[in-house]
Amino acid sequence: MTDTAPAGGHAPVLRWQDIPGWFQWRDAQDEAVAHFPDGSVFVEVGNYLGKSLCSLAEAVTANGRRITIVGVDTCRGSGPEGRRAINAHGAAVADGGGTFAGQLHRNIIDCGFADRVHLVIGASVPASALFADGSLAWVHIDARHDYDSVAADIAAWGPKVVCGGWLSGDDYDAVQWPGVFTAVRDSLPTAEPWSLCQWRWVKPG
Ligand SMILES: C[S@@+](CC[C@H](N)C(=O)[O-])C[C@H]1O[C@@H](n2cnc3c(N)ncnc32)[C@H](O)[C@@H]1O
Repeated sequence: MTDTAPAGGHAPVLRWQDIPGWFQWRDAQDEAVAHFPDGSVFVEVGNYLGKSLCSLAEAVTANGRRITIVGVDTCRGSGPEGRRAINAHGAAVADGGGTFAGQLHRNIIDCGFADRVHLVIGASVPASALFADGSLAWVHIDARHDYDSVAADIAAWGPKVVCGGWLSGDDYDAVQWPGVFTAVRDSLPTAEPWSLCQWRWVKPG
């Protein structure tokens, strides 16, 4: 994620590439879609306006796969964060009167994935309690980027991943996002760099 804050905006959205966001790691989504069997459930924690979520839905759909996709987001933004305390989602939150849930859902509908993507509007840790332990093939974490939040997300979602499944996350960058980098190192010492600035942990067992 860069410091640039794409505005919420209402430009026409026909495909995921039209949605504002920072997503650049499609190859990892393609790898997940090829790796896991039909019937799997994928969760993305931190969706913003749905760019990465709709890309994943496109990857699943284009490959004719039966994989359930769940997005989890407060839709209230992460607030100021990073070295320069940028409030990257603030404009979209303000544009929606305190929530960008409407714009996120609109973008999913406009991309044609209303029946493919299920949204949980809520906070990461309590939302994880909606899922049984060992029930998720892949959980990708891209919510708030400070140490405590990332550590809490890992602690909450790790048990939900099936043995052999993946827990991963965005912005694995010791310089730009030291909180993410250090929380992953401390919580999951066997996690490895993956794709473009991502981290991934394969659950043993
Ligand atoms: C970096 S953005 C996600 C970007 C998105 N994955 C993409 O590539 O387009 C981070 C998102 O995390 C959400 N968020 C922050 N804290 C959260 C929390 N505790 N639970 C759920 N979502 C949270 C924010 O509302 C924001 O939409």
